[in-house]
Amino acid sequence: MMLHARPNEMSVERKPAAFADLRGWIAALEAQDELANINAEVDWNIELGTIMRLAQGPGTGKALLFNNIKDYNKPTSRCRRIFGSGLNSYRRVAMLLGLPPDTHPRELVKIGRSVLTGSVPPKIVASGPVKENILKGPDIDLYEFPSPHWNRLDGGRYLLTYGGCVTKDPDTGVMNVGIYRGMVASHDRIPILVWRAQHIGHHYTAWQNGGEAEMPKGVCEYDVMGAIRGAPVELVKCETVDLYVPATAEIVIEGYLGLDPDTYIMEGPYAEFTGYLAGDRSPKPAMRVTCITHRNDPILRGTIEGAMPGSYSENSICSSIMRAATAWNVLDRAGVPGITDVWCPPVHAGINLLIQMKQSYRGQAKQAANAVWGSSAAHVRYKHITVVDDDIDIHDYAAVDWAIAYRVNAGEDDVVIMPSTFGAGLDPSTRRRDRNAHLFGTGKWNRVLIDATMNLDYDPDPDLGGARFPPTVWPDKADIDKAYARWAELGLGKPKAT
Ligand SMILES: Cc1cc2nc3c(=O)[nH]c(=O)nc-3n(C[C@H](O)[C@H](O)[C@H](O)COP(=O)(O)O)c2cc1C
Repeated sequence: MMLHARPNEMSVERKPAAFADLRGWIAALEAQDELANINAEVDWNIELGTIMRLAQGPGTGKALLFNNIKDYNKPTSRCRRIFGSGLNSYRRVAMLLGLPPDTHPRELVKIGRSVLTGSVPPKIVASGPVKENILKGPDIDLYEFPSPHWNRLDGGRYLLTYGGCVTKDPDTGVMNVGIYRGMVASHDRIPILVWRAQHIGHHYTAWQNGGEAEMPKGVCEYDVMGAIRGAPVELVKCETVDLYVPATAEIVIEGYLGLDPDTYIMEGPYAEFTGYLAGDRSPKPAMRVTCITHRNDPILRGTIEGAMPGSYSENSICSSIMRAATAWNVLDRAGVPGITDVWCPPVHAGINLLIQMKQSYRGQAKQAANAVWGSSAAHVRYKHITVVDDDIDIHDYAAVDWAIAYRVNAGEDDVVIMPSTFGAGLDPSTRRRDRNAHLFGTGKWNRVLIDATMNLDYDPDPDLGGARFPPTVWPDKADIDKAYARWAELGLGKPKAT
């Protein structure tokens, strides 16, 4: 059955692997038979995105390297290859973290926790392969890159889907690296979806306020990248902006994000992480490209966004681990005791959070939910939190469902709504007006806690020896051992390990 408490310790040892660069990572995937090279011609217009969405499966597809893209397959083409689906399998995430490919996602969450608090600062170097080609002025033409029109209903061709967007806080100088969608609007303009409550939005607001904003000193993702790799990331200075980028990056697009609403450009809609078309066509802050640097024969990193049953995106697989790890760290920092496991199932990007805990007093699940929702990490995630006891395996959907069936009593405050909080502006379950980040700076979520733990507010029952819930029907260990000892004799084959 599903009722097994799991220890909190890590059972695997991590050997951080730096993979040198994207090409090293692709070679490592090929060596492990985790890569499909697609050499037949594929159209960047709808076809490539469709293939990627169908091929990814529920975390079972291979990484994809498109080597022959229509209109971009001449020897003179500036960029001829697209790499995607690199991280939509737990095997590949494990490899990236320097772990055996079959490491259980539960362990990946624990590793993720320590990686997120680790820090290996980057190293500045004089130059690197990313400077092999430097394009400025009239040589800048974004259409030389095979940005896919990923989905038929997208508002345009999206060049930025899985590229790191580097920005800098004007007051602290701390750089941020985040993934933000960006559409090609002309040969040198990329409108970007910027939300105020995201880090790029914090920076945007700070620059709009003339660099006078009160900002907490942030964490630079380059430090976290170093912690993941177990080695510093080597950075080079950009040509036209005061920012640093990886020396072995394939392509770097430098530029300035327009602060003046008069310079905004129409962007969207886009097939979003929710699995729905989302983010209306509307004017967005646009990047004015001032320089492009790239390696020889560069590989464009791209991803098909949007997870659905049967097709898990890179975002949803990575989120299931890192959003769970982040939430667990938030719970720890808030001092919530007894947390034994945290998980976000991979079909959504960290929207439904599962927490397993060893309760020692009533209200502990509510304390956990409040801690998570009170954190800025909850902005576009953790809409629904389900808390279970430590006999329920949160990686087993049936176990969680069983706990919800028999340990939840909505009339006893086991279902709690936290109304009108900040939330994802792309969630179609929110009314359209309330999703308008221009009006409100963020979306609006009514959050729900499902407390599926045994209710410690009930009186201990003397008939149950002081327990609050009756024993389950699962046999005692002695009875199980006795039955299994006769398994072969009964003609039932080899007994399961107990
Ligand atoms: C493929 C992809 C596209 C994304 N697009 C956006 C976006 O357009 N705007 C946004 O605010 N977040 C977007 N996100 C989510 C952010 O990358 C994520 O919230 C990240 O934590 C933001 O970085 P930050 O925490 O430094 O703000 C996207 C994520 C992925 C994986």
